[in-house]
Amino acid sequence: MKKKIGVKISGTGSYFPKKVLTNVDLEKMVDTSDEWISARTGIKERRMSEKNEPTSELAFRASVEALKFANILPEQIDMILVATVTPDMLFPSTACFLQAKLNIPSVPAFDLLASCSGFIYGISIARAFIESGLYKRILLVGADELTKITDWTDRNTCVLFGDGAGAMILSASYETDNILSVFLGADGSYSNSLFLPAGGTSNPATIDTVNKKLHTIKMHGKEVFRVAVPKMVLAAKKALEFSEKTLENIKLFIPHQANMRIIEAVARKMGISMDKVFVNIHKTGNVSSATTITALDEAIKIGRLQNGDIVELVAFGGGFTWGAAVIRI
Ligand code: UT7
Repeated sequence: MKKKIGVKISGTGSYFPKKVLTNVDLEKMVDTSDEWISARTGIKERRMSEKNEPTSELAFRASVEALKFANILPEQIDMILVATVTPDMLFPSTACFLQAKLNIPSVPAFDLLASCSGFIYGISIARAFIESGLYKRILLVGADELTKITDWTDRNTCVLFGDGAGAMILSASYETDNILSVFLGADGSYSNSLFLPAGGTSNPATIDTVNKKLHTIKMHGKEVFRVAVPKMVLAAKKALEFSEKTLENIKLFIPHQANMRIIEAVARKMGISMDKVFVNIHKTGNVSSATTITALDEAIKIGRLQNGDIVELVAFGGGFTWGAAVIRI
């Protein structure tokens, strides 16, 4: 009988731009306060990319780190996948820009858009490609520059987001299988709850769309909050069930970093104590597709995770989309 191909996580990496935007900086830009932002979101500061530093640049730097970690050369990668809602351009894909930067021509490269759940969707896609035997070493990146699509006069949204990128290399293996389960979901009836109205085919760019600031994030924050908590709990429970593991087996729970109150509510409803929950939102803000992978990478780097530990990632975002994955490091 043919042996099943498993997936090994060969390495991770991350990158945040140098420039820091603190809550105190925001106090000078809109009618807000460090106290309000900290209490309502848990965010203290976020990173901001430069004008000449597109999403593919952050993706590139995170990828280089992941390749180094995995001890793999760029030419050993046979597919590139980038999860993003802030591509360098509408087309070609950010994955193609990244491919050129890595100098690995011919390797298939494409983007996937599942908002803040993009990286979890990406794990599922990469796993399917590897298990099918078609590809052996996939570079999966979650990268976003939300500060470039932010309305800096809207205090409801501008305090929430940041820029960053994380990368993971998933390799075919006959010895191990590190993706224990993935659960995905979406509900398109909420597409107007968290969105960027213009620039696509339903509302192409005009002077009017620019004047009306329709090229920036619009969000019904309360609705996002209300739906996010039960969907993240559902996804986390389903992925755990499919993995045939229990909460006791999970070393660290890594939720999407959008709001500290959402993270705490999900942990409470799951029955997970906060010392098992990884949080870095205070220094990153919400970096959309990049949150779970950059948090995972940080947890590995600071020694909160060791080889063999089991981790659960869970995310929720525009669409709405949601997903969770149970993985072994
Ligand atoms: O990846 C998924 C992306 N998004 C999310 O996960 C966001 C989910 N939602 C949230 O995180 C929260 O709904 C927010 C943080 C966005 C808002 O928190 P909230 O507790 O739902 O506040 P709110 O929108 O009900 O606003 C309460 C008050 C309002 O004032 P009034 O009407 O009570 O006088 C807002 O105008 O807070 C005011 N407010 C602010 N005040 C100071 C809203 N934003 C700010 C601000 N600074 N930045």
